[in-house]
Amino acid sequence: MATNRTFTMIKPDAVADGHIGNILKDIIAGGFKIVAMKYTKLSPEKAGEFYAVHAERPFYGELCEFMSSGPIVAAILEKDNAVADFRTLIGATNPAQAAEGTIRKKYAKSIGENAVHGSDSDENAAIESAFHFAGTEIFS
Ligand code: CMP
Repeated sequence: MATNRTFTMIKPDAVADGHIGNILKDIIAGGFKIVAMKYTKLSPEKAGEFYAVHAERPFYGELCEFMSSGPIVAAILEKDNAVADFRTLIGATNPAQAAEGTIRKKYAKSIGENAVHGSDSDENAAIESAFHFAGTEIFS
């Protein structure tokens, strides 16, 4: 069954490059409602915890270093079929393979510095949302 929420982060590369406004505009134009949002910075430990599922991957160290290198925007988004529709909106993990008009095609630099994160399943959307937000910080 499709859920109606997904979790996203605007990553340090896109924040540093001044893309927060344009990315949020694309997200809203894509039909998503922002039900929680914060401007924050992950410690290397917290980045490691968030991406623990990738701990055995060769890029894990680089990923944690990058994700803790500067501020991010974390948000919970609401829309019918949110997880799948958001992944369509952001495009492939590697921006070189992302479709024209997608957020990663427009704003990402590389597979590592790929502008935005989007949950890959309903289960992970719930886990990742709870990692960043208390129930009192979510407004639907
Ligand atoms: P994200 O959607 O946040 O989920 C895991 C992240 O790992 C992914 O986006 C990429 O930023 C990163 N990643 C995946 N594959 C590679 C790779 N081959 N090299 C560097 N980073 C990667």
